Amino acid sequence: MPSILRCMSCGQEYPIQTLLYTCEHCGNLLDVQHDLDTLRRTVTRSLFDQRLGTLDTPYKSGVWRYKELIYPDLPDHFIVSRSEGNTNLYPAPKLAAWAGVKTLYLKHEGENPTGSFKDRGMTTGVTQARVLGMRRVACASTGNTSASMAAYATFAEMDGIVFFQNSHIALGKLSQAIAYGATCIQINADFDRNLELVREISEKLGIYVLNSVNPFRLEGQKSIMFETIQQLRWNVPDWIVCPGGNLGNSSSFGKGLYELHQLGLIDRIPRIAIIQAEGANPLYLAYQHDFEEYKPVHAETIATAIKIGNPVNYAKAARTIRWTNGVVEQVTDQQIMDAKALIDGQGIGCEPASACSLAGARKLVEMGVIQPHETVVGILTGHILKDPDATIGYHNNSLENLSAAYPNRLYQVEPSVDEITRILETKAH
Ligand code: F0G
Repeated sequence: MPSILRCMSCGQEYPIQTLLYTCEHCGNLLDVQHDLDTLRRTVTRSLFDQRLGTLDTPYKSGVWRYKELIYPDLPDHFIVSRSEGNTNLYPAPKLAAWAGVKTLYLKHEGENPTGSFKDRGMTTGVTQARVLGMRRVACASTGNTSASMAAYATFAEMDGIVFFQNSHIALGKLSQAIAYGATCIQINADFDRNLELVREISEKLGIYVLNSVNPFRLEGQKSIMFETIQQLRWNVPDWIVCPGGNLGNSSSFGKGLYELHQLGLIDRIPRIAIIQAEGANPLYLAYQHDFEEYKPVHAETIATAIKIGNPVNYAKAARTIRWTNGVVEQVTDQQIMDAKALIDGQGIGCEPASACSLAGARKLVEMGVIQPHETVVGILTGHILKDPDATIGYHNNSLENLSAAYPNRLYQVEPSVDEITRILETKAH
């Protein structure tokens, strides 16, 4: 049976080439649904292991290596890929000790071509745009989606259009979208309103929406779980900890793990912990009431990537929590920035939102939710260079309402041998 689109709520089905983001009947989110019965007979771990290290397109991509689980029936010539994925899974023993667990790995999605995990969803999203014959693609963005979409759109010879919020876009991200040649429109509204606008205007003008409401985005992002578990030689960690904003990534993780389990490629499902910033925590608040009540919030956090008050994938993220026996936690901006400084200080580095993974892991250990003997994988979603202002502001202690626990002071001196010597002598271990 070919893959189809299926409503996650009422089960209504649509052919895979239908241009649709939500169900025409009930308005809920759609899944790309593959024929798992057929895949169970054909897909093995060794199929994916054999492709490791290949130079062949598309399998050298860390997304398309798992093509059978991403978009099985697709002819290869449609694929728009920059060999995304193949990111490092770093063992981080010092950070493990800080968090209070025996084993911690950090999966660095900032090592993707445009510096964030979004590339894994953009290769599939732009590929589907090509399948559908779309010429123009658009997104609202806190920054990374726009950088990724702008790059993949021009790579595929399509026009990219970005709706930016009015303030607080990290400079690295804004500069990427402009440099890659997208039409960038800064709108006097926050991310949540911009997402509504991009959906409305795109429908009116026949433009393809590449926010994570698009189910093809999530298909690519599932590969973060596939690659992580393959890198662990198919051993399943106890916990996956990741930041939550628009909740596309965590939704894709739940779907990917559920499918791996259904296909018999893993024998148990790791628990997912979604970490939100305290100032942008609608999923956390709903989780406190067993998802019986959901209210959007007005979002405010230094982690601008996840400054989102009304996440479009709320229902899929709640499903992820159910499927994986997961949890939702919140952390403060202070905790985020201190955790970031420690990740940066290991030479690994990440942007603020990514540090939710480490800050959240530590908090969950303190709360007794994660046990010290358990294996934890934290997802680092974006590159350290995305938001240099936050990094510099932290280390020179100029961030509002924040006091750096792990600052690395920048010395500024005259060209004096004595003065420099004095600094180095006081710094000597
Ligand atoms: N981390 C980073 C670095 C991000 O850019 C985002 C989302 C997230 C985490 C949260 O992921 O939305 O799937 O829950 N950035 C989007 C953007 C919203 O527009 O770039 P999510």
